[in-house]
Amino acid sequence: MKALILSGGKGTRLRPLTYTGAKQLVPVANKPILWYGIESLVAAGITEIGIVVSPETGPEIELKTGPGDRFGASITYIHQQSPDGLAHAVKIAQPFLGDSPFVMYLGDNLIQDQLLEFVLDFQKKPLSAIIMLKQVKNPTAFGVAQISPTGSVINLVEKPKNPPSNLALVGVYLFSAAIHDAIAQIRPSARGELEITDAIQQLITNKQAVEAKELSGWWLDTGKKDDLLEANRIILDEYLTEPQILGDVKEGSKISGRVVVGKGSQLINCTVRGPVIIGENCVLENCFVGSYTSIANDVTMSDIEIDHSVVLKGANISGIQRRIVDSLVGERAKLTVTNHRPKALRFMIGDDSTIELT
Ligand code: TTP
Repeated sequence: MKALILSGGKGTRLRPLTYTGAKQLVPVANKPILWYGIESLVAAGITEIGIVVSPETGPEIELKTGPGDRFGASITYIHQQSPDGLAHAVKIAQPFLGDSPFVMYLGDNLIQDQLLEFVLDFQKKPLSAIIMLKQVKNPTAFGVAQISPTGSVINLVEKPKNPPSNLALVGVYLFSAAIHDAIAQIRPSARGELEITDAIQQLITNKQAVEAKELSGWWLDTGKKDDLLEANRIILDEYLTEPQILGDVKEGSKISGRVVVGKGSQLINCTVRGPVIIGENCVLENCFVGSYTSIANDVTMSDIEIDHSVVLKGANISGIQRRIVDSLVGERAKLTVTNHRPKALRFMIGDDSTIELT
């Protein structure tokens, strides 16, 4: 069994962060979301992994993720010239996949359920695909499946106006080599992409066995800001099990709950309430850091309160007189107050940024 992780795409919904970086590398609890996916595949015994990348973000993904030895895997990078759809990514990966069955994993998705049980089930049965489903409140925003009482898939519809169920298609799939024939039979959709939902529908039309499994655990899709904050909350809750203070917590600071402070970081007169992760070489002075906050390496903060937020590498935040909540602060972003009674707000804001004064 091989794996194919899709990490190309445009990432329009996470702009402006995705102008300068790959969305699959945006850290959740200070680790790229993509790496959780790789670890979960390796935990299921799958170590031959292909990662589809785009010309824009491929070099960064390759540089940071490497050849796979750190995960106990062997990673092959597959270059997709333009984001022509999930099924197109499978098509160009065919030389890597050969006739092998494979797990396809969207690089900005993560599921809590262990993959191993799905892999074992797939190997036992003569199936062409296993798809995973999760009940959602707003099925019109997803690919949605109609399922027979015996669990077989009747059909799939992409973003339906009248959803046949509330079961959304999750970004993790298992396929046999039959998917390649199905992809060869489909045409690009109205938005010009080769859709994986169409390819799975084609499998069903070809009378191939496609089984659906409803996930029991959480499913995260970090393609948008609020989803990313939710992923950060869930992952901090689940993966940050013990406090670990490697940095220098000076007198006057109060730390409670599960808090990680990385090497070379200094906390001066700060209150931190876990779960919180603070990376390496950060300097925090006179700050309150509330639960579910992840602060990456090299961040400087002073005289602020921050809660339920993600701050990326090298950001600098100081003197903001209101609590910062539910926020995502990009790499090297600067958010400062220079006058204690500011009379005006002065901004230099990148394209597609959002500022909400609430
Ligand atoms: P999407 O989130 O569906 O697409 P996108 O990355 O273009 O994002 P947006 O809608 O915000 O513009 O993609 C799911 C995953 O699959 C993501 O990790 C990117 C990847 N992908 C490819 O590798 N190749 C492709 O052609 C497409 C469309 C996506």
